[in-house]
Amino acid sequence: MLSYRHAYHAGNIADLLKHSVLLALLDHMRSKDKGFKYIDTHSGAGAYSLRSEFSEKTAEWQRGIGRHLGSNAQHPLLDKLLSAVQTTDTGVVYPGSPRLAASALRRQDSGACYELHSTDAKLLANNLRSQAAIKLYQSDGLAGLLSQLPTPTRRALVLIDPSYELKTDYQEIPKTVHKALSKMENAVIAIWYPVVDRDLSDAMVKALTAGLSQRVDCFELGERADSEGYGMTSSGMLVINSPWDLAQSMSTLLPELAAQHSLDGEPHYRCDNLVAR
Ligand SMILES: C[S@@+](CC[C@H](N)C(=O)[O-])C[C@H]1O[C@@H](n2cnc3c(N)ncnc32)[C@H](O)[C@@H]1O
Repeated sequence: MLSYRHAYHAGNIADLLKHSVLLALLDHMRSKDKGFKYIDTHSGAGAYSLRSEFSEKTAEWQRGIGRHLGSNAQHPLLDKLLSAVQTTDTGVVYPGSPRLAASALRRQDSGACYELHSTDAKLLANNLRSQAAIKLYQSDGLAGLLSQLPTPTRRALVLIDPSYELKTDYQEIPKTVHKALSKMENAVIAIWYPVVDRDLSDAMVKALTAGLSQRVDCFELGERADSEGYGMTSSGMLVINSPWDLAQSMSTLLPELAAQHSLDGEPHYRCDNLVAR
């Protein structure tokens, strides 16, 4: 039984990292005319009102996107994310990964979004209702990913963004990613992970990169130094088949964000090339 609802966390600092990287990867895929398929294994609801009872309960977005709303002179990736946030008379709507992807898809591109939670699957269908190029599935995203590969045009962008409610995710995700790469070695795959237990996240990053010859970059951003007392102190995005210019872009964005979001006065970020190509 899944209990995680992304509505509690939408627009927080983890989303800033995840969605900045996603926007950069979508730009990269669009830099060639040939169509690509976007595969979102854990899609969530697609869009989130920041005035909902969920958002109000945690107020996480206020320490995330809330710090940037209404400001200008931002990094281009943050500017792009801010322009995808909809502000209306009735409130602010923060875009989830499927909506960010939907706005970037061209006529030649397509998408497949997986969401298991019945409430969020319905919300996703509603939030993406005019997006005929994106097929929605209320089924397991990791199995779904393997069924989609290789994609017809041999170009794919994959986002794997689980809630890590099941501790087995830490083992299942590396296994699935290696199977996915054996079906399509050039797939661009971005995996989000929380840093709650540093040993656990490091072990997953190690398992993900083991034996890979594709370029792998690792980005992290957090509000605090690693600690056993604070729950999630930071989070990361591991990118396989990472475009060469992504690290360059993140190396200017992350120090800026880390300085703005630090709660302990020590900016926390990581921008590492783990496998060179
Ligand atoms: C962190 S949220 C996704 C947020 C979304 N990617 C975004 O950036 O806007 C994770 C979602 O995965 C869903 N989920 C959990 N296990 C799943 C599975 N095996 N297959 C598909 N969806 C799953 C949860 O219900 C939850 O909505």
